[in-house]
Amino acid sequence: MTTGHIVSGSRHAHEAWSPTRGREIIADHLPLEGATLPILHALQETFGYVPQDAIPLIADAMNLSRAEVHGTFTFYHDFRHEPAGKHVVKICVAEACQAAGGHVTSAKVGEALDCAYGETRADGQVTLEPIYCLGLCACAPAAMVNGRLIGRLDDEAIDEIAAEVRS
Ligand code: FES
Repeated sequence: MTTGHIVSGSRHAHEAWSPTRGREIIADHLPLEGATLPILHALQETFGYVPQDAIPLIADAMNLSRAEVHGTFTFYHDFRHEPAGKHVVKICVAEACQAAGGHVTSAKVGEALDCAYGETRADGQVTLEPIYCLGLCACAPAAMVNGRLIGRLDDEAIDEIAAEVRS
């Protein structure tokens, strides 16, 4: 039984990285204003992470230095350097969730999953990430598990997340 409030969600499979597909995605987004961010988002959406090999391709297409693209990539916490684990758990650490006891909840989730924030567990079962507001502030503390939004994260919901990650 779920006690945490599931709000919505979906999960879709990612494609394996290929430079040809990467170039295609870059070309599709190139006409956009400030294309670097939309390109990075589109790459992560497609491949599940932003492969290191994509950075020079973006730099060439945008006429930027690799360092500039890398700087944008590392500035935003949302971008992943490596493929994620089988399950992706994001816990909101922004203000409303913190005020609702999110710091205690996030520590409990880390313990329950035996995974540090920003890391993928050694067995590849889970990636645990902090996120800065999921737009669920009214149902704080909030989480996103495999693309599913969960509000009012309580001990029972944390147990359910831990069970899901074991599967
Ligand atoms: S602050 Fe956590 S969902 Fe908005």
